[in-house]
Amino acid sequence: MSEWFETQAGMLDEVWRQLTRGVADAKAPARHPVLATVSSDGLPEARTVVLRAAERSAARIEIHTDLNSAKIGALRHQPMAALHVWAPRARLQIRAGVSVTIRSGDAVADMWARLPDGARGNYGVTPAPGTPIADETGFSREADPAAFAVLDGALQWIEALHLGRTLHRRVLFQAEAGWTGQWLAP
Ligand SMILES: Cc1cc2nc3c(=O)[nH]c(=O)nc-3n(C[C@H](O)[C@H](O)[C@H](O)COP(=O)(O)O)c2cc1C
Repeated sequence: MSEWFETQAGMLDEVWRQLTRGVADAKAPARHPVLATVSSDGLPEARTVVLRAAERSAARIEIHTDLNSAKIGALRHQPMAALHVWAPRARLQIRAGVSVTIRSGDAVADMWARLPDGARGNYGVTPAPGTPIADETGFSREADPAAFAVLDGALQWIEALHLGRTLHRRVLFQAEAGWTGQWLAP
């Protein structure tokens, strides 16, 4: 039987298996992807996030954040972001280009209502995230539904790189090509 990394379809299946597992399993590598954006100054910025949803049929991913965080300003300026995951056991790097829609307020009220109390505390900090403070305790947290933002990411492309023992395989899948794959030189 062939290995998953030997075919483009197998590579794409494994990408989605990793992403789906990341949502369900806190210890899975795709639980904590890196989300990279472009600041309004045109500079790259990257940070770890939690993958909250991944739906293959809709080619979308979801991340939750504070509406007052810097990444929101970056995404308003440039809504294209990049997602990165390294899954060491599978020896698979996943890179994806994501078109992000920011949802907040009434549009996410039902999701806020379903968040556990512990999770709500992540949204609502004074002063706003990233503001310089006099010492490390100089901020307060209060769960604030107005600070809750959902980043709805529509995947535009996915690139998978598998590091094999004898062969590295790299393939690009594009939404506009109906997610058909294209092998690339690794
Ligand atoms: C393991 C881990 C998980 C994180 N998850 C999130 C997350 O889901 N959403 C989020 O906005 N920030 C998350 N953060 C914090 C971000 O990495 C970042 O510090 C914060 O969002 C501010 O980023 P910004 O100033 O670029 O907006 C996480 C950090 C770590 C270390």
